[in-house]
Parts: sequence; C-alpha cells; structure tokens
Amino acid sequence: MNARAEQTVTSKHAPIVEGEFLFTFDDFRQIAAMLHSDAGIALPESKATLVYSRLAKRLRSIGLRNFRDYCQIVQGHEGIDERKRMLAALTTNVTRFFREPHHFDHLAEKVLPDLLKAARNGGRVRIWSAGCSNGPEPYSIALTILSFMPNAANYDIRILATDIDHNVVAEARRGVFSEEMISIIPPEIRLRWLTADEPGKWRVAEPLVRLVVFRELNLIGDWPMKGRFQVIFCRNVVIYFEEETQTQIWNRFKGLLSPGGYLYIGHSERMGAAEDGFENDGLTTYRFLGKAHS
Ligand SMILES: C[S@@+](CC[C@H](N)C(=O)[O-])C[C@H]1O[C@@H](n2cnc3c(N)ncnc32)[C@H](O)[C@@H]1O
Repeated sequence: MNARAEQTVTSKHAPIVEGEFLFTFDDFRQIAAMLHSDAGIALPESKATLVYSRLAKRLRSIGLRNFRDYCQIVQGHEGIDERKRMLAALTTNVTRFFREPHHFDHLAEKVLPDLLKAARNGGRVRIWSAGCSNGPEPYSIALTILSFMPNAANYDIRILATDIDHNVVAEARRGVFSEEMISIIPPEIRLRWLTADEPGKWRVAEPLVRLVVFRELNLIGDWPMKGRFQVIFCRNVVIYFEEETQTQIWNRFKGLLSPGGYLYIGHSERMGAAEDGFENDGLTTYRFLGKAHS
C-alpha cells in the first residue's frame, strides 16, 4: 500500500468525534449520504459533533457500541423504522408561532382580502405550508385567516401542512403547545382560538383543526397534489439543501402556484436563478407572475 492509500485508510477509520461510541469519518460519510438521498439535506463535516450528539441516544437505546453497527442497521431491510428515526433525529425542527412576522402582515394586508372575498363568493382557497415542523407556521396562517373570518372553516379554504418527519406531523396534528410556545400569540387571539389543556398546555380550537390538513411529504419526492395554491410558505427548509436542489424546489413551486400567487421563503434563503417568473414584493416575499417554467 502506498503512503497516500495508507493515509486515506487511516483517516477513514479515524474518529471524527471522540466519545462514548466510536464514530469515524467513514461512518459520518455514510450517514451524510443517507440523509442526502432520503431528504436532500447536505451535511458538512462541521456538523459531525451535532450528528454524534443527536444519534448517541439512538445507539444507547438499541444497545450498540459504535456507529459502524448503527450504519449497518439503518442500511438494511430490518432497519427501515430506525432509518426514519435517524432522519427525524437529524432534521432541525426549530419553529415558532408568527416567525418572521412581516410575512403574516403581508398575508393579512395584501393577500387575504381578495382571497377571502373570493371564498365568500364560493371560490376555492388553498395555502401550502411546506416543511411545517410541529405546526406553528400553518396554525399562524390559520389564526391570521380567522382574525378576518371567524367562520372560515365553513368555506372552501384549506391549509395543507406537510413535513418529511412523521413525528412532527403527528405532533402538529395533536395541536397541543406549551405556554412558552404560545406566549407570542396576542392574548385576545390566544384566548379565542386556543383552549387550556393539561396544566401549562394549550390546545388549538376546532376551527383551526378544520382549516389545517397535515400530511407527511418529502419535498425531494413526488408531490401528489393536483390543484394550485394561491400561497406557499416554504421557510427555513431548503436552507439545508444544496443550491441545485433549492433551485429545483423553487422551480417546482411554479407548477403549483396560481398566477398572481405568493411564495414566502426563509430569512436566509434566496431564489437565485429560480427568481425568473417571480416578482419581489418585500422581504423574502415573491409574487408569481404565472410564466417561466424552467
Ligand atoms: C427549521 S424547520 C422550519 C419550520 C417552519 N417552516 C418555520 O420556518 O418555522 C424545517 C423543517 O423542514 C423539514 N424538512 C427537512 N427536509 C425536508 C424534506 N426533504 N421534505 C420535507 N420537509 C423537510 C424538517 O423536518 C423540519 O421540520
């Protein structure tokens, strides 16, 4: 073996993070490759410590001593459920009610008046929260709608809320949030649309449950939806993807947005080459002009 090959072999088997469980560069690369192929998420080596700490619990609960055995499990047929748990552990689900509030102001002032008027006249209103985590984003959209139209659920108005992580989708569907999570919601809205549940917990009321439909959906997979959306929120999700994947997602939204519809993206996300066909309408807010499918 020449020196270069020897060095590669050594570094491949060297620990990338020191700790209770042996975690080598090779283990990290395998995990990063699985996350990339399953979810489109790109994991740089700088995230190795994070990967270690998020998966150590899993290794402990299965009774493993090293990441090599864990990689074998999640790559095998028997490991399908564990692979989903791995994915859930590695996705970042941080979210909050009315995050990036300028989007909700824009929605309330510039978008909802026409949409709700159309709904009152029998029209169909569809909003998609893509990458909804455990629900504050779609429920914030619903609360904004309800503040204008308390009986909105009686009309053909629905918010589709999707995420790849089945755990957060289940949590979102439950609709129970801690006092801390809901503290940002103005008291008059909170008292009207959420009810006190067990101590320190609040549950979203029936009109919110009726407005929001939760589904598991992988943004890099097939999208089964047929009808168009007048509004899409896809915020703080594609930031974890490579630029090429981000561009593909933005371009796919063009096929599902109604002309004149709006796309809200996260504060550190950019449309890049996919901006063609959109018009900027404020901070990370885009109006779809109804053309340019690249
Ligand atoms: C940081 S949260 C953002 C939540 C919310 N949109 C917000 O801005 O507060 C990112 C979410 O994207 C989801 N996600 C990551 N990769 C995904 C994919 N390929 N398809 C769908 N959702 C994905 C994660 O599970 C996570 O819940």
